Amino acid sequence: MGNGSYDAFHWLYPPMYHKEGLWLDDVAPLTKAVGIPVICPGKIIRPEMADEAIREGKITAVALGRALLADSDWVNKAASGKPEDIRPCIGCNVGCIGRIFAGKTMLCAVNANLFHEAEQALIPAETPKKVAVIGGGVGGMEVARIAARRGHDVTIYEKADRLGGMTLVANVPDYKNASRRLLKWFEKDIREAGVKVELNREFSVDDVKNLDADAFVISTGAFPKIPRIPGVERENVTTAIDALLGKAEIGQNVVVVGGGQVGCEVAYELLRDGKRVAVVEFLNGLMAGGKEPVSAAVVLMLQDLLNYYKADIRLSSALKEIRENSVLIEKDGSTQELPADTVIMATGFVENNSLYNALKDSGKEVYVVGDARRSPGNIMRSVADDNEVGRKI
Ligand SMILES: Cc1cc2nc3c(=O)[nH]c(=O)nc-3n(C[C@H](O)[C@H](O)[C@H](O)COP(=O)(O)O)c2cc1C
Ligand code: SF4
Repeated sequence: MGNGSYDAFHWLYPPMYHKEGLWLDDVAPLTKAVGIPVICPGKIIRPEMADEAIREGKITAVALGRALLADSDWVNKAASGKPEDIRPCIGCNVGCIGRIFAGKTMLCAVNANLFHEAEQALIPAETPKKVAVIGGGVGGMEVARIAARRGHDVTIYEKADRLGGMTLVANVPDYKNASRRLLKWFEKDIREAGVKVELNREFSVDDVKNLDADAFVISTGAFPKIPRIPGVERENVTTAIDALLGKAEIGQNVVVVGGGQVGCEVAYELLRDGKRVAVVEFLNGLMAGGKEPVSAAVVLMLQDLLNYYKADIRLSSALKEIRENSVLIEKDGSTQELPADTVIMATGFVENNSLYNALKDSGKEVYVVGDARRSPGNIMRSVADDNEVGRKI
């Protein structure tokens, strides 16, 4: 038994904004009434949740959909009492349902080897190398764990005091439980693969050149892209990253510039905090731009959430000027002023590839991966690219 319909699409393929096990309470009375086995899916990602629902008589058995795409060994790991070994589905819908509805072959954002397990089996490296991975985001950890399992001696150098990179920022909202577990899974997996980690290590080009390594993987992520708009340097302007990390003071009237997934998630957070939020988007739809299409289930759910909290959504609108307490936007040739104590720029990202550019002709074996290679990316692109590099080194 599932729930939803094509007219209520995000209930059918529940993305990350829905709670885990979202149908269990709905189905419990049915199970008790019908007297025949009832099997239920719906973001049952943790074996503990499956156990509990069956023990409490809410369902007879669980169906695992996307959880098995993310980790086809889910059941064996659960049965052997190692739930922490399960690589969690993060409910992004990017690789699975998003691609199916785009007429493409199914992939999984967190499982780069899905459906290619045999041909992509790990082959021990002919010549074990010292591999330096610069940047410990999800992409860096993926390349590291694969390369280390093939016999390379791998060290991740991360400038922050934690691994995770941009995913740490994306994981701030409370509904990102599964994504937080994914980072834990990566940390455990790289540890078990024997990857060494050095935190608080920020490198210049010379520092990297002086590292004792045979191969370099540049996984330095991306910077926020800030358009040149009059007033963009004002104090009331911040980035989506700083807003999510709580590094910026946010006033009551907020204008989020950019209606991509990042902008919409920031707007949703602030609306739930009781702020009045306008989203200004140049295109005529939310989450309609970017190189990576966003799954319809994600788009429709975020739109519903923003509408529920009464966001002021301004489509086909260009930001013209930022003032002390307002912004000017232009739509169809006419200018409007929106109140703005704070303006949050969610206008995309640009590759942080300066280290790679400085090294690529140095004669060393150098790879660039993830957002540092092509931005804006997403976890799926990063994991897929880095898995491939990990198998190639
Ligand atoms: C790739 C994919 C294909 C699906 N195909 C069907 C289908 O043909 N019929 C159906 O009723 N549900 C289908 N579903 C929905 C699942 O049965 C399930 O209700 C949904 O994915 C939520 O469960 P999950 O969180 O365990 O994935 C599909 C889901 C996915 C991810
Ligand atoms: S693509 Fe995303 S939603 Fe789909 S199975 Fe993989 S992690 Fe889950």
